[in-house]
Amino acid sequence: MNQKAFWETNWNKEAARLPVNSFARRAYKLIKPKHRTLLDLGCGNGTDSLYFAKKGLIVTAVDWSNNALRQLKEVIRRQGIKNVKAVQNDIAKISFRPDSFDVVYAHLSLHYFDDTTTRKIFNHIHKVLKPDGLFFVKCKSVQDKFYGLGRKIEENVYEHRGHLRHFFSKNYMIDLLRKFQLIRVRRTSSFYYDYKCSFIEAVAKK
Ligand SMILES: C[S@@+](CC[C@H](N)C(=O)[O-])C[C@H]1O[C@@H](n2cnc3c(N)ncnc32)[C@H](O)[C@@H]1O
Repeated sequence: MNQKAFWETNWNKEAARLPVNSFARRAYKLIKPKHRTLLDLGCGNGTDSLYFAKKGLIVTAVDWSNNALRQLKEVIRRQGIKNVKAVQNDIAKISFRPDSFDVVYAHLSLHYFDDTTTRKIFNHIHKVLKPDGLFFVKCKSVQDKFYGLGRKIEENVYEHRGHLRHFFSKNYMIDLLRKFQLIRVRRTSSFYYDYKCSFIEAVAKK
């Protein structure tokens, strides 16, 4: 099964919506009134996109899963939401204009790529952020319990049943963000669905 098919299957059924996660809530506390536009990369069924939209941000929600976006579009339609645009695309291929967004937000969606692609994505995020724009990113850490499961592809990248996982160390995240001003980077752990995971979270500014 390829990566996209994995996610289409994952989003195939109407999953119970998780509550808005604490990362999104903490991000919102740092977002200022001058920040108007937000790009949610790997938005899934859009729980966080809808949270930011309800706070008044103009949201572009990107995911490659049609099944996930169908669920988001259904909420947009039912609730008559005007400030969320759902866009089907591969994060590795996005190409927005420079200085397009005040905020880029990526919750558990940038840890599926090899190192070269990851660096390309982080550089593109830097380009599309406006000056003073904020970037919030949270990825699985090398301390996660799934670390090392499956076939090793490269340093900290493993493929298990067709699913690629890239585990981040704190130093790796810092290195990826070297074009940005780093505001905060830290290791956290919490339950995601039904198991305890380890993460690296970062906040950075252009
Ligand atoms: C763990 S889920 C997180 C979803 C959402 N951010 C949340 O926190 O609920 C990862 C999401 O990233 C999306 N994704 C993974 N690789 C992608 C890619 N190359 N392009 C676009 N979306 C991708 C998946 O379809 C999935 O919806």
